[in-house]
Amino acid sequence: MANRVPLMAGNWKMNLNHVEAAGVVQKLAWSLKDAKHDASQSEAAVMVPFTDLRTVQTLVEGDKLPLTYGAQDVSLHASGAYTGEISADMLAKLSCAYVVVGHSERRDYHGETDEIINEKAKVVLAGGMIPIVCVGEKLDIRKAGEQVPFVLAQVDKVLADLSAEQVASLVIAYEPVWAIGTGEVATPDDAQEVCGAIRARVAELLGAEASDAVRIQYGGSVKSGNVVELMAKPDVDGALVGGASLDPEEFAKIVLFYQR
Ligand code: PGA
Repeated sequence: MANRVPLMAGNWKMNLNHVEAAGVVQKLAWSLKDAKHDASQSEAAVMVPFTDLRTVQTLVEGDKLPLTYGAQDVSLHASGAYTGEISADMLAKLSCAYVVVGHSERRDYHGETDEIINEKAKVVLAGGMIPIVCVGEKLDIRKAGEQVPFVLAQVDKVLADLSAEQVASLVIAYEPVWAIGTGEVATPDDAQEVCGAIRARVAELLGAEASDAVRIQYGGSVKSGNVVELMAKPDVDGALVGGASLDPEEFAKIVLFYQR
């Protein structure tokens, strides 16, 4: 495997207010320091609600915590009359490293299409941040055995018009929708099948350098008890973790998978 540092990203979704966020981030950092976490083996990141970002930034920068952080969505627009939206510039100003785009919950509840997600990925890159671009099939597609062609069609669309350099810098999260929040984790072989196919597609579209560098995460019911087997797969470069990331001790164990 190339020099891809695994990215263990907690996706808090709409959980933890800014007061609670401070407690969770401090406990997480404490657990990592206690275990002598080596950030060259695994990167710990938290994707938090917008209202938590300033608090997380202050803690991470002020106390030099071994964490990166980011947001869960971004507006397509740069500024103006878009009530309720948050721009890439606003997120960059808070020193966000990452922005999740195209999570299945955004696709399902907010009608986000592959085309919108592609535009959002471009907006994040233009803002100097790294998009975590989500793809993944629903249960009917999986039952029909169509997961690979389905996800590759999503990949083609969400990466459209991006350069090899841009794709090398970003993160693709493969999250089978049937495994999200259900306790129904994909087997390590299931995860490898699709993550491997995504990497091969990136090689085909943009060349070996981009496909060696792009980080591909698995997401869906990742826990400390299943992360080691998933991470043993050659094309799984990390995890996007929902529920288990809300418990700082449990999430620390996930980040520290490489010590086991
Ligand atoms: P889960 O969520 O870990 O709770 O299944 C994953 C995600 O939606 O990113």
